[in-house]
Amino acid sequence: MRSIALLNQKGGVGKTTTTANLGASLALLGKKVLVIDMDPQANLSVHLGVDIHTIKYSVYNILMNTATTSDVLMPTKIPGLDIIPANIDLSGAEIELVGVVGRETVLKEYVGDIVKQYDYVLVDCPPSLGLLTLNVLTLVDELFIPVQTEFFALQGVSKLLDTFEVVKKRLNNRLEITGIVLCMYTSRTRLCQEVVDKIKEHFGNKVFNTMVRKNVKLSESPSHGKPVITYAPDSHGAEDYMLLAKEVVAQVIENKK
Ligand SMILES: Nc1ncnc2c1ncn2[C@@H]1O[C@H](COP(=O)(O)OP(=O)(O)OP(=O)(O)O)[C@@H](O)[C@H]1O
Ligand SMILES: [Mg+2]
Repeated sequence: MRSIALLNQKGGVGKTTTTANLGASLALLGKKVLVIDMDPQANLSVHLGVDIHTIKYSVYNILMNTATTSDVLMPTKIPGLDIIPANIDLSGAEIELVGVVGRETVLKEYVGDIVKQYDYVLVDCPPSLGLLTLNVLTLVDELFIPVQTEFFALQGVSKLLDTFEVVKKRLNNRLEITGIVLCMYTSRTRLCQEVVDKIKEHFGNKVFNTMVRKNVKLSESPSHGKPVITYAPDSHGAEDYMLLAKEVVAQVIENKK
């Protein structure tokens, strides 16, 4: 079992797109996959076809202990891919959890056993380093950082690395950064290439070889409630996320050996 958070507190870098499409591609490779939506924007849930306005329970109820994980967990249209969805209720959770003892470990307490039944658990984080994100970092073993290949890509990364170090020290000593995913790559611009070089200089072999190209099918597919692999199976987007999934499967995580 591998549990992975997709985190970058910078907004709009490709966290949700990567969670949905990597999750779907891993499932198509025959893996049993769970994705968890921990962003009150609920973009991941919508992307994978969940009707967020009619679901009875969401991850919010798990955190508040008003529903069990099995009440909330649901299948998606992709065989082998399950989701714990979110909806707007989650936006109140940070404040409601503030007074709770052990507030950073609530998610782990309630979903820790279920996640062990999957080959891969991917958690989509909100664009912040608040309490919801801390709950995710306490649950998972690995952190993937999606980075957009643009000028401001590394802005804020040192803050993210500081948070990672603190969480590792105080809350979860298993946590490791195991992947940097380059998103929205365009080979045409020199700037893009320069940014890629800089990111590789910084993170070395943690950077996946697969660079997810900018592709309009990736931005269209959420509104159809489908991952790109079923919305546009012949697109560059589908190809890139399948290659990324194969790379993830082939990864050797040293501390797990
Ligand atoms: N490779 C790509 N090509 C084209 N569009 C993309 C690509 N990756 C992501 N997008 C689009 O860019 C926007 C931001 O992507 P996404 O929602 O995945 O980012 P995010 O990091 O989850 O954002 P937030 O911080 O708001 O949660 C979305 O509209 C998405 O469809
Ligand atoms: Mg998102």
